[in-house]
Amino acid sequence: MKKQLILSLALLSAGAVWAQTLRLQPDNIDKIIENLTLEEKARLLVGRENSESDKGVPGAAGVTQDVERLGIPAVVLTDGPAGVRIAPTRPGDSHTYYATGFPVGTVLACTWSPELVENVGRAIGEEVLEYGCDVLLAPGMNIHRTPLCGRNFEYYSEDPVVAGTIAAAYVNGVQENGVGTSIKHFAVNSQETNRIEVDEVVSPRAIREIYLKPFEIAVENSNPWTVMSSYNRLNGTWTQSSPELLKTILRDEWGYDGLVMTDWTNERRPSWERVAAGNAILTPGHDWQETDIIENVKSGRLSMDDVDEQVRILLEMIVKTPRFKKYQFSNTPDLDGHAKLTRRAATEGMVLLENRDNTLPLKSTGKVALFGKTSYDFIAGGTGSGDVNKPYVVDLMTGLTNAGFTIDRRLKEYYQAQKNLVDKTNAISGERNRLNEPKLSKRNIERLAQENDIAIVTIGRQAGEGGDRQIEGDFNLTSDEREMLENINDAFHALGKKVVVIMNMGNVMETASWKGLPDAILLAWQPGQEGGNSVADILTGKESPSGKLTMTFPVAASDIPAVNDFPTGSGSRHGDHRRNVDYTLHNEDIYVGYRYFNTFGKPVSYPFGYGLSYTDFEYSKPVVKATADGFTAQIAVKNTGDIEGKEAVQLYVSAPGKDMEKPALELKAFNKTRSLKPGESQTLTFHVKAKDLASFNAAESQWQTEAGKYEVKFGASSSDIRATASYNQKKVLTAKVNDVLKLKRSLTPVSQHTSK
Ligand code: BGC
Repeated sequence: MKKQLILSLALLSAGAVWAQTLRLQPDNIDKIIENLTLEEKARLLVGRENSESDKGVPGAAGVTQDVERLGIPAVVLTDGPAGVRIAPTRPGDSHTYYATGFPVGTVLACTWSPELVENVGRAIGEEVLEYGCDVLLAPGMNIHRTPLCGRNFEYYSEDPVVAGTIAAAYVNGVQENGVGTSIKHFAVNSQETNRIEVDEVVSPRAIREIYLKPFEIAVENSNPWTVMSSYNRLNGTWTQSSPELLKTILRDEWGYDGLVMTDWTNERRPSWERVAAGNAILTPGHDWQETDIIENVKSGRLSMDDVDEQVRILLEMIVKTPRFKKYQFSNTPDLDGHAKLTRRAATEGMVLLENRDNTLPLKSTGKVALFGKTSYDFIAGGTGSGDVNKPYVVDLMTGLTNAGFTIDRRLKEYYQAQKNLVDKTNAISGERNRLNEPKLSKRNIERLAQENDIAIVTIGRQAGEGGDRQIEGDFNLTSDEREMLENINDAFHALGKKVVVIMNMGNVMETASWKGLPDAILLAWQPGQEGGNSVADILTGKESPSGKLTMTFPVAASDIPAVNDFPTGSGSRHGDHRRNVDYTLHNEDIYVGYRYFNTFGKPVSYPFGYGLSYTDFEYSKPVVKATADGFTAQIAVKNTGDIEGKEAVQLYVSAPGKDMEKPALELKAFNKTRSLKPGESQTLTFHVKAKDLASFNAAESQWQTEAGKYEVKFGASSSDIRATASYNQKKVLTAKVNDVLKLKRSLTPVSQHTSK
């Protein structure tokens, strides 16, 4: 009896010691799950606002919760995508925590250079690591369905191949630092108005080909640590509560084995449903969500297997984090090095839209009449969670001054006084009113034309999370701006002097009605903290522009294929029946962007893929060779001008189109030359798989590559095809997938009411 007692005491104490020493390790996750109580599991699956935790990094978006007794640390989730979004200062601390403000997503995509984007990602990842964070909530990679979405600046393109390829490069760069990313917002988060409630009604074909394709490409080519499920509904179901999306497609079909977290959804109930659907972190996280999980496990509605599956996924991620590895972060990332990188990266994504009589590069520095208040208050990035607390923004005035130009002093003082006035009187959510341009009389402008060598005019637009853009006063030029531009044009042209417009915005605007006025237009986008220097580098010819549009500039807003199916008013909470409020019909179907304009022969202001250079390029005769799983194409590009420059070449395919309706052409690959000296050439190679020529046949629920002759087109843009070859696909290829995400409302596809 005594012996037995001693033995069981010994066993008990061994157990206690063992339990005490049980700590999370990469190889004991099963054991940890066995030891976690239900309450602890619920705690792990529910995040916390950074402000509610002492484990975070000030200003970060959120944290996970820890379980100290088992050595499970809290990990820090911080926003991007244009850099690390944390608080720049801390009470009682003289050290500053500014993060580099990199160019926004649109700029990165318009470089057409995955290599450059990977470098930017690597730099951002270093700041994530050195500022003590674990997962960057970026990249944003939703499709630019229309130019009216307020968050397009964070995203990449209207084309899935561009969006997916650029996102993969960004993820690879960031994750090289041993920190994670979150590709977002999965999926079809195409508008900001009523984003929490709206039901996006989309055909399974458009879902697969347009909206999921970029995520599929990113998962295949970069394996992001996490995916963020979006706010909206998709065909009647919240994406966050859709096992069809988060499990059947993401995991079963694409083989994704990382983690899914929800976007920052406060109110939505129930929570357990989102765990069952495949989210491992509910954000931002509340006590009641933990209770909800616990109660629903107890009542049997949520299975312990589902809970354990998500806890396992979370722990598998946690063991990879710097926080788990006890990385000693420095709080001193290489900000100087990154400032140089952002300056260069931004120039490569800027797009030269007009350049009559080779106005640019400017032949010499001289006296500049610098118009437009944005010239003195440059916009580095968009607003909302995608805004970075950067140490400074180089405005255009400063950039031009740094480059040796002399800015007209009186004009500068006039604008600076206006800017201060505007700042004081219009500080709604930190935003400045950019639309009302300070008035300048014709007489004043004429005087300025006499006293200066050139006019440079900046037109600015700001947009961001939580709101979409209006057509009047935002997408269109305002009457103030038009008047200013016309008067400047008249005055400077009368004296034979040039007018250059700089567009400082994150998104598309109407250009057709005024692009004929100035001599040159440079689309500088929202170029990050070094913006003014980057623009000056292009104006002076230090860099030759090589950015090209990853979206279409339509002639008018009324030409946008989805313009009638986009929210017009503010959203409602619980309604379900008002078109363009509670739900958005994707009647344009797969005809987003150039797929629409090229197929239906609609004129545009600037086509997808367009961008001028300071030099010219000649494309050779291409060679297309069949391979075991598709084809390889090669084309030589020669710099035939007299300035060094780079050229992005786009490979489009026109399908036989006999078995299925197809867009006139679709981008399948792209490549960019290195910087070519005059006379120099480079052969670019493209690989295209036959499976990537497929379209989605919804009736059969399968991807289908039709057999026959495909035209392979090498474009300087989608409307400037420089060379064509062909590829013969010998047999039909099909790949069955699950019949999910079905339509619950009917659509009237654009192809049925518009003649080709
Ligand atoms: C945004 C996300 C962001 C999150 C955390 C949400 O409102 O939609 O993109 O990552 O907030 O700040």
